[in-house]
Amino acid sequence: MSGKESIAILGGTGDLGTGLAIRWSRAGHEIVIGSRTLEKAKAAVENLQKISPETPARAMQNADAAAAGGIVVLTVPAEHQISTLETVRAGLVGKILIDVSVPLVPPRVGTVQLPHAGSAGKRAQDFLGADVMVVSAFQNIAAHLLQQDIQIDCDVLVAGNKRGARDKVIELAAEAGLTGWHAGPIDNAAAAEALTSILIQINRRHEISHSGIKIVGQGHQE
Ligand SMILES: NC(=O)c1ccc[n+]([C@@H]2O[C@H](COP(=O)([O-])OP(=O)(O)OC[C@H]3O[C@@H](n4cnc5c(N)ncnc54)[C@H](OP(=O)(O)O)[C@@H]3O)[C@@H](O)[C@H]2O)c1
Repeated sequence: MSGKESIAILGGTGDLGTGLAIRWSRAGHEIVIGSRTLEKAKAAVENLQKISPETPARAMQNADAAAAGGIVVLTVPAEHQISTLETVRAGLVGKILIDVSVPLVPPRVGTVQLPHAGSAGKRAQDFLGADVMVVSAFQNIAAHLLQQDIQIDCDVLVAGNKRGARDKVIELAAEAGLTGWHAGPIDNAAAAEALTSILIQINRRHEISHSGIKIVGQGHQE
């Protein structure tokens, strides 16, 4: 064993979950792929093991995956975020839950339309309560890029109420080849979620396939 936490990816059969699984598996984390069906999870694990044969991976249904993972990542479509959390919440107590949801509302995906709670990240934290440390991240990273072995020109805004939990997710972002930044409490997840619609507009109007964000800084605080 690598000594690194196992990471359970719920909906890890999908596009973003696959990208994160590939990168964290290559970094030496045991990956647990969660799905609504064991068969789909097993097929995803088979693919993952072809890419990272040295690193163990397991297939489970979402609730078992949530219970098994040291850290849990939710990568299902935003409209199914809460219904999925309902089925797995018992396994999340005391853990970090990384929420990647971008609450786009088709057909106007280039227009910011955040949910009533303020953001999907805040909605998840409100639903789960203080026993689960929800950290919102990766909203601005394209799944398709994560799945390739390339440098991605986009940083990760990391929002969550516990600084230690944000530190851990920034570390995981680095292991996936990305720079993460402390973006403050979970209320601030709204900014990264909204930014995705802006990046979609930029892609369309400036004919870029994947626009991204980079945080820059100058000087030091006294
Ligand atoms: N795609 C991107 O580039 C990207 C970028 C940043 C953030 N995100 C966010 O990442 C999340 C996943 O996006 P994605 O593109 O990876 O989605 P996806 O491929 O469409 O779906 C991911 C997985 O969600 C599960 N799922 C589908 N319908 C469901 C339902 N009704 N209830 C529960 N689970 C269901 C499926 O897994 P099973 O059938 O195996 O259960 C599916 O493989 C979304 O919240 C999205 O906003 C995506």
